Amino acid sequence: SITACLFDLDGVLVDTAKYHYIAWKRLAGELGFDFTEQDNERLKGVSRMASLDILLEIGGMTLDEDAKLALAEKKNAWYVEYISKMDESEILPGALDFIQVLKARGIKVALGSASKNAMLILNNTGLTPYFDAIIDGTKTSQAKPDPEVFTMGAHELGVQPDTCVVFEDAEAGIEAATRAGMRSVGIGSPETLGRASIVLSSLEEFTVDRLLEL
Ligand code: BG6
Ligand code: MG
Repeated sequence: SITACLFDLDGVLVDTAKYHYIAWKRLAGELGFDFTEQDNERLKGVSRMASLDILLEIGGMTLDEDAKLALAEKKNAWYVEYISKMDESEILPGALDFIQVLKARGIKVALGSASKNAMLILNNTGLTPYFDAIIDGTKTSQAKPDPEVFTMGAHELGVQPDTCVVFEDAEAGIEAATRAGMRSVGIGSPETLGRASIVLSSLEEFTVDRLLEL
């Protein structure tokens, strides 16, 4: 049976990938190289510092740790400026309806995100009250594909991992779910998320009845 659903945030509940992209592109521009939308795909689900490492690799740059921290902070300040203007209209189609139905059916709901900005996004979009547990980048020490974020979520909910389903748009997130012993629903393309139990293009086409069949 299924007792809980654990949701990734960026790319599953809200479309924040575009804000991460604009902020990283702005940083690359300042550093003097281009950063494309295709490059941005490599950053999905990846932690802030690991994202910076990938960006610098694309630009062919090596920097020391202090310089890297300063750049990551700069990017984050821009990103926070963009997401501060978010509201409930930026919740992805079908996400809120699905979460409300889960709650009504007695299925627990948790967040499992790498972002240290998760609370700001949840508060601005009005999603905070729907979660029975919130695990974000301020609580974890290991990034996806490490299962920590989802294992902590199940623990905080008091449920067994094999009764949990994870919703993810990143390959590393699907791997984290599998390593946590959970089923997973990929939101995006079967090409990158093929290892999920099922792949959807959005939550709009999903129902609790289909969830219970997983
Ligand atoms: C993930 C995003 O959810 O959070 C990544 O998919 C991002 O793109 C990561 O780098 C960390 O986010 P933040 O807000 O802590 O920089
Ligand atoms: Mg994501």
